[in-house]
Amino acid sequence: MSADAKPTTCYGGSYVDRFQLYLEQSGEHGAILQYVHHSLAEEFKRIGALKGSLDVLGVGSGGGELDVQMLSLWQSTFPGGPIATDIVEGSSELTNNFKALVAKTSSLDNIEFSWHIMSSEEYEKQVKAKRDIKKFDFIHMIQMIYYVNNLGQTIKFHQSLLKRNGRLMIIVEAADSGWDILWKTYHEELCVGGITEYRASREVVACLESQGLKYEEHSLPHSFDITECFNPSSVTGDCLLSFMTGKEHFSESFSPEIRAGMLDLLRSKCSTERDGRVFFNSDLKCILVHD
Ligand SMILES: C[S@@+](CC[C@H](N)C(=O)[O-])C[C@H]1O[C@@H](n2cnc3c(N)ncnc32)[C@H](O)[C@@H]1O
Repeated sequence: MSADAKPTTCYGGSYVDRFQLYLEQSGEHGAILQYVHHSLAEEFKRIGALKGSLDVLGVGSGGGELDVQMLSLWQSTFPGGPIATDIVEGSSELTNNFKALVAKTSSLDNIEFSWHIMSSEEYEKQVKAKRDIKKFDFIHMIQMIYYVNNLGQTIKFHQSLLKRNGRLMIIVEAADSGWDILWKTYHEELCVGGITEYRASREVVACLESQGLKYEEHSLPHSFDITECFNPSSVTGDCLLSFMTGKEHFSESFSPEIRAGMLDLLRSKCSTERDGRVFFNSDLKCILVHD
């Protein structure tokens, strides 16, 4: 890697393990799925109306747990019609998990998958080099917008890939959520690796406004128990803190003063306490960008 090259943001090695533990501990997928089932069915019907086939693009889909559920919802709102899905994900480990999940989900047999194991930036370059650009009815970026090099360019490019009546769905941490407070307060310590600029829903909305794009913003409330993070001998707590701060080992990163300050902030400003347990505010926003 040249001195000024940005480290890859796509998950590999132990990052994948920390992410899996985070998903288990946080119940984040459950909160997103609840939203998907309650709020997206009507949106999907509207997008699919009068169409003979559907093209879906997932960007930063990880292990595909959410994609698979959304594809099932597409099948029920768009019965009989052919559905093709393209996946852009730079992690080969997570893409393998996604492929394994597809292989054991027989109801997805009639969906055609095209895998692009690369970052969204590489995909953009490849697409722009072609004459014939594939367009999509629905594009989703769930919990991945933090990692792209250039927020404005990424949104502009993906919005330009929408077919008529299509939607780009961005799910991102909410402005003033615990994540937003933690990452903005400790910007200097945290924004040093793959993420050089933290962004929550406020930054995404400001970007859409500056580009004059039409969108809707929906709240997706979520919190999870981080009590273990305050037990210095807890392996789970350290792993969770490591994922939340983008480090390999929280307990071996930063100075003791900074670690203590982060823990204090997590408890006092990013969470609420109930029955002796600490619940981190992990509210999300779902932003639907119009074609
Ligand atoms: C927090 S995970 C979210 C995964 C999935 N969307 C979910 O919600 O379960 C972020 C994902 O974005 C991927 N990623 C990171 N940087 C990326 C980039 N520049 N282009 C495409 N994917 C990227 C990571 O490999 C990882 O799978």
